[in-house]
Amino acid sequence: MAKVELDRLTVQFGEVAAVDGISLVLDHGEFIVLLGPSGCGKTTALRSIAGLQHASSGEIRFDGKPVTKLSPAQRNVAMVFQFVSLYPHLTVRQNVAFPLRAKGVSGREIAEKIEWIAKVFSIGDILDRYPGGLPPGSRQKAALARAVVRNPDVLLLDEPLSAVDEQYREEMRWELRHLQKKLGVTTVHVTHDQREAMSLADRVVLMRAGRIVQVGPPTALFNDPADRFAAFFIGSPGMNFVDLTLAADGLHVAADQTLRVSAPNNVLEDARAKGLNQIVLGIRPHMVELTNGVGQDMLPATLLDAALVGRDLEAQFALAGQTIKVVLPLDAEFRDKRRLRLPPAHCLFFAPDGTRLG
Ligand SMILES: Nc1ncnc2c1ncn2[C@@H]1O[C@H](COP(=O)(O)OP(=O)(O)O)[C@@H](O)[C@H]1O
Ligand SMILES: [Mg+2]
Repeated sequence: MAKVELDRLTVQFGEVAAVDGISLVLDHGEFIVLLGPSGCGKTTALRSIAGLQHASSGEIRFDGKPVTKLSPAQRNVAMVFQFVSLYPHLTVRQNVAFPLRAKGVSGREIAEKIEWIAKVFSIGDILDRYPGGLPPGSRQKAALARAVVRNPDVLLLDEPLSAVDEQYREEMRWELRHLQKKLGVTTVHVTHDQREAMSLADRVVLMRAGRIVQVGPPTALFNDPADRFAAFFIGSPGMNFVDLTLAADGLHVAADQTLRVSAPNNVLEDARAKGLNQIVLGIRPHMVELTNGVGQDMLPATLLDAALVGRDLEAQFALAGQTIKVVLPLDAEFRDKRRLRLPPAHCLFFAPDGTRLG
């Protein structure tokens, strides 16, 4: 395993910077997930680490040594793509042995390595079967075993679970995390699925348009998003955003000055210092409370719709012309509630350009 450094890495396709000057240090054995919407540069970044994509500028180092100019074969990385690509005419054992044979490893050493990897991956019982007859989870495991049997310095995974059926995917997530820890190989995993990222990563790297928006452990991204994009991208359903007006005597909901909202002093000071009179409140749908009480931060709202989503009830309310999503327990009494409470401890505040205030 290696420590991997990206130093102002840029990959340019004509006018488009697919990767736009990203710097990042991955610790030995760390599980890093690159997360972001389609087209934000995740695959390009991964291919650059693998050596499959030429960097326009910047440097990549493994354990301090520049590898930017090295070919994929010279880098000792393993990459698993979206689609599992086991050779169908070879058994799992032959598939796993393949990269070792290609490297000229002796028959005895290959047998030892296969015994080792079969134990780590618990695939001893499928070694002599052909991929075609195996369930997707087993095939994925065999593909991963083949990728790591050479002891790569870095394991690169590009949406490896997207081809797996939903019912296997959760199980595969646990399995992947478990195996990565057992192997201790520095891993970069790419996905656009925030739930996958949050459940796998030691640290998530959230990307947008070729740049890094935020890097941190999953809980840090969830609880303390760097900006409005991060706040909305992570968490399901996405965060509510309420347009507010900052008047001389305080904050109120944009369309109705009788609907007053409180915010911490540092937020108000920051907004005033920036000369803002419009700001945005963000609150997660799970944190909005329903009440019939009257008081601070309780705002009259009208129920628009409610539906069962998974094991939750999702309701939508209209608040002075803006829609607010609320996630409630299945047995919640909500039809007679006339007000929303936005608990100040769970509110975030943003400038109109999406940056955090306070
Ligand atoms: N070989 C290429 N030639 C030209 N443009 C490319 C090429 N590969 C990717 N791109 C562009 O670079 C951007 C990032 O792509 P990609 O890294 O595949 O994003 P992601 O994996 O996050 O979906 C996109 O705008 C894509 O169209
Ligand atoms: Mg991609």
